[in-house]
Amino acid sequence: MEAPIPNIPIHADNAIVWCDGHLYLLDQRILPLQTVFIRLNTGAEVANAIRDMVVRGAPAIGITAAFGVVIAARNGWASAGRGWKAAMAADLAVLAASRPTAVNLFWALARMQRLVDELGGEDPTPRLLAEAQAIHKEDIAANRTLGDLGAALIAGPTAVITHCNAGALATGGYGTALGVIRSAHAAGKIQQVYADETRPWLQGSRLTAWELQQDNIPVTLLIDGAAASLMTQGGIGWVIVGSDRIAANGDVANKIGTYGLAVAARHHGVKVMVAAPTSTIDLSVASGADIPIESRAAAEVLCCGGKQLGAPGVEAWNPVFDVTPASMVDAIVTERGVVLRPNAKKMAKLMAG
Ligand code: MRU
Repeated sequence: MEAPIPNIPIHADNAIVWCDGHLYLLDQRILPLQTVFIRLNTGAEVANAIRDMVVRGAPAIGITAAFGVVIAARNGWASAGRGWKAAMAADLAVLAASRPTAVNLFWALARMQRLVDELGGEDPTPRLLAEAQAIHKEDIAANRTLGDLGAALIAGPTAVITHCNAGALATGGYGTALGVIRSAHAAGKIQQVYADETRPWLQGSRLTAWELQQDNIPVTLLIDGAAASLMTQGGIGWVIVGSDRIAANGDVANKIGTYGLAVAARHHGVKVMVAAPTSTIDLSVASGADIPIESRAAAEVLCCGGKQLGAPGVEAWNPVFDVTPASMVDAIVTERGVVLRPNAKKMAKLMAG
């Protein structure tokens, strides 16, 4: 019989947990009404958890995939000994195919693969586990640094709008956009956070609102279509979002609706900040047009809470990310520094530094 799930404290910073030799994920599909941890026993189970949104958010997907490699290698070693690399190959393939847009997934898999290539005929588990844990730890440190750098851009007490969830739940901890908001709130600069609900998965209303409430940061929900109207009332200093992939020219892929929010922000003189670790920057894609945009099932749009609400038989278009052109972004904030009014030259300089 399998060991019971350990008693892990429920907090947004604890969404990805390695405990007693096992990987546990806080099931983000059912937050905040249910707080349930799931144990993952194979690389394929980890890939399914990423695809099915048990874990989501670009850095969190990368960290989880790194632990997936650990589990796949450990199982490969148990079943095939020195033939562990061949035994884990299928798991690596399904991990890489789990979601296409967040480049952190491929970044983390490539980093783990480099270590796999170095390792030989000994048990690979300890070295790979140390690498996955380093990826996790470095992500939290990056978020704390970029959080402070982003907060420094915010002049004074103001309200901000965020979209989707780019918080602790979407990362190793602390968050990117919510990391900036956490740091700015601690500095007395945030009067109010407005969180778009973010159809169809409701990452804003289910996850961002839950996270901010936990930290006593004032949060108000709005439907995605209300953001432009809110801007007409004044008082919004910044739109602050995360990203799934930033192209070499500074174009930003993020949750569908980010582009519309940026258009509205530009129209109303509201500034746009994109907060992301450098593991989200992909210099191999020249512009946003080259970023693969994930399309998910029409049922996600037609249904809500497991209930069909759309007209029976109607079609639905469900791209889950969009691209905001670099020209509409005021600042890209990373742990290596801030890029104001991004372009290809500035992005290359940041990554070379
Ligand atoms: O489909 P999701 O929930 O994985 O999309 C997440 C986002 O779009 C986030 O804004 C992005 O990954 C940045 S998370 C720090």
